[in-house]
Amino acid sequence: MSASNSADDPKIVEASFAFGFTDLGGAPPSTVPEIAFAGRSNVGKSSLLNTLLSRKSLVRTSSTPGCTRQINVFSVQVHEGPYLHLVDLPGFGYAKRSKSERRQWGVMLDRYFRERAALRLVVILVDARRGPEDLEADLVEYLSEVRDPPIPHVYVATKIDKVPRSMAKTALGGMSERVPGRLLGFSSKTGTGRRDIWRYLLGFVKHRCDGSQS
Ligand code: GTP
Ligand code: MG
Repeated sequence: MSASNSADDPKIVEASFAFGFTDLGGAPPSTVPEIAFAGRSNVGKSSLLNTLLSRKSLVRTSSTPGCTRQINVFSVQVHEGPYLHLVDLPGFGYAKRSKSERRQWGVMLDRYFRERAALRLVVILVDARRGPEDLEADLVEYLSEVRDPPIPHVYVATKIDKVPRSMAKTALGGMSERVPGRLLGFSSKTGTGRRDIWRYLLGFVKHRCDGSQS
């Protein structure tokens, strides 16, 4: 079997930074389907994007939490696949931000989730060593309330390379049981999970975003 299609470890034809904004008013209107990546600070959102885009450092990452401060949109053309926008969100729960910064951050994200028509799916990242906690459950609840119909989501457990190999499967299985919907394991260090995440995203876009792109 040599079934090679765009969902099998897809090749990236083009990936680039499209635009960034801190206020939705500053974002150009767009009909390109957007997939946003959300989760705690330092969980690995920007690293996941680099892996998905097959770029080492197109998206800025840092070992210091709070690295991503604005909403950054990256355009990607997948070989034989759709043109998409992948959206890197600033992390939740970064305690060192000032009160006013946190307020501004909350308003920025709230407006994005509520009003961005192009937003189709939120990928919620959790550290594979912690699993989903209240913060992620709150986000899922919020996504189901801010729009009707709710904004769909999928979980990705990051840094799976830090879980001993013998325990990874059980850990992922246990986490899956605790969350509604799909949960996929991933490591930006080894690339584990890239293919399955792309497969999920492309399947989602194909079945749920028809008619919204050329
Ligand atoms: P903020 O922008 O602060 O919200 O962080 P982020 O979620 O974008 O995290 P980022 O991708 O910047 O990664 C944070 C740190 O975790 C960096 O030091 C990365 O190298 C590391 N990291 C990210 N993903 C992985 C992973 O899969 N495995 C391991 N071992 N380290 C990872
Ligand atoms: Mg980041």
